[in-house]
Amino acid sequence: MTIKIVETTPFDDQKPGTSGLRKKVKIFQQLGYMENFVQSIFDALGGVEGVSLVVGGDGRFYNDVAIQTILKMASANGVARVIVGQHGFLSTPAASCVIRKGEHTGGIILSASHNPGGPDDDFGIKYNASNGGPAAEKITDAIYAMTREISEYRIMDAPDIDLGTLGETTLGAMTVEIVDPVADYLELMEDLFDFDALKSLFKGGFRLCFDAMHAVTGPYAKAIFEDVLGAPAGTVINAEPKPDFGRGHPDPNPVYAKQLFDVMFGPDAPNMGAASDGDGDRNIILGRNTYVAPSDSLAVLAANAQLIPAYNQGLRGVARSMPTSCALDRVAAAMKIPCFETPTGWKYFGNLLDAGRATLCGEESAGTGSDHLREKDGIWAVLMWLNILAETGSSVNDILTSHWHSYGRNYYSRHDYEALDAGTAQELIAALRAKVSELPGEQFSDETVELADDFSYSDPVDGSVASAQGIRVTFKSGARVVYRLSGTGTEGATLRVYIERFVAGPDGLDEDTQEALAPLIAIARDLAEIRERTGRAEPSVIS
Ligand code: G6P
Ligand code: ZN
Repeated sequence: MTIKIVETTPFDDQKPGTSGLRKKVKIFQQLGYMENFVQSIFDALGGVEGVSLVVGGDGRFYNDVAIQTILKMASANGVARVIVGQHGFLSTPAASCVIRKGEHTGGIILSASHNPGGPDDDFGIKYNASNGGPAAEKITDAIYAMTREISEYRIMDAPDIDLGTLGETTLGAMTVEIVDPVADYLELMEDLFDFDALKSLFKGGFRLCFDAMHAVTGPYAKAIFEDVLGAPAGTVINAEPKPDFGRGHPDPNPVYAKQLFDVMFGPDAPNMGAASDGDGDRNIILGRNTYVAPSDSLAVLAANAQLIPAYNQGLRGVARSMPTSCALDRVAAAMKIPCFETPTGWKYFGNLLDAGRATLCGEESAGTGSDHLREKDGIWAVLMWLNILAETGSSVNDILTSHWHSYGRNYYSRHDYEALDAGTAQELIAALRAKVSELPGEQFSDETVELADDFSYSDPVDGSVASAQGIRVTFKSGARVVYRLSGTGTEGATLRVYIERFVAGPDGLDEDTQEALAPLIAIARDLAEIRERTGRAEPSVIS
């Protein structure tokens, strides 16, 4: 076994996005592409001599190849120890859990989250720091800088490691430990929730349908819901992880999780439905004939967190990303706790959680989590809901309706225009940016603009500033429209338009969301000249 030092030249497209480097598999398969990025991570950390790392991914196509490369490079760079999930599996929250529990230096997570997988689809890699969370921007900037000047990488000339056998082995001087991907995570969940109450819930005939979408949560969900909590076999559907997610698109939304929606909106629906995404950090929640909007789910969890053992002392603060609806703010105001508004991207919650200023946080993009980890956590969110249902004896629908009666309802929807020409999309945003200062006071149908800006965030913990994070337009009525470009796509550009209107109740709380928002949707389209600029009359996905 020898260490090879391989000469290389930079690729110019290795800038990490909202959540690490995400590209088509074909791009990652270019000679030296993966190696350059991994070496740049190691170099940006100032070298990795003697450190311990966690490595795992969502099992998508290329996961196994990438892990072998990372192991050989880690060994050649002097890493002392690497913990790998068996078969290369670790959900993103489980990776965060393993890093924190073992007090490791950091971890490399392989996933393109909710994007499809397969030889013609997507792959991704990101670095998480010792707190278990996505690397802060100063680290991802440093990684990018290294990718621009890399001239060589180090890799071990060695046979592949067997990722299927639990236990310790060595690769050169480095120890490789293959662990059960579920064990540490399950233990943490047992600490947070009242598992006895959950067992009784299922014993009493409560029915859950959890759609793992052939992604990484399958083994976690089967172990936790079926084996430990006693939910009947078949509670978890599409449970077997597959490299191409069974040709599906592991994005838990009404379009791609249609099977689950059909179950929950069909005859004899179970009490609750839920799904997670490719890497297990997202979640959606459904009741009978009801889809809980992620922003509402976040607000409901905050309002009821005290019912759960881990949060019975109350929440210190909450946080949401800017485009997430303001339903959470209403709960925070009632609880008299701070509510932070951050840019899109879980990494922005890290400092608030580390500093103990926020306990619970979440995003419109189906992510919720708390200070138990530094990633959003799909199965955790399902356990939160189950525990709340077990404590209150209510249904998902009752909890949601009574929430709206207490706090009012923020009707909310996101319209995505996918695969736009990147230049066209950037021009659309630039045009909005150019006119924000003139918008206040302008009238659009019944709405008058109160405030308009390009969101800029100043981190209250370390003072770092993130600017140009999305155009916000708030109307005098309290309605709001937000525009931003997705930072996670791999094809052209995706324009996201977030539309929100508040109704205090008690009347008008049961309208259809798209109908309740129709006038505002029309304003949002006009204001950004979406049709004129993109040629699209309708969004590609509405959620
Ligand atoms: C990832 C990040 C989230 C983010 C989401 C959507 O899942 O972890 O924090 O909300 O992507 O990002 P996008 O830039 O595509 O709207
Ligand atoms: Zn994800």
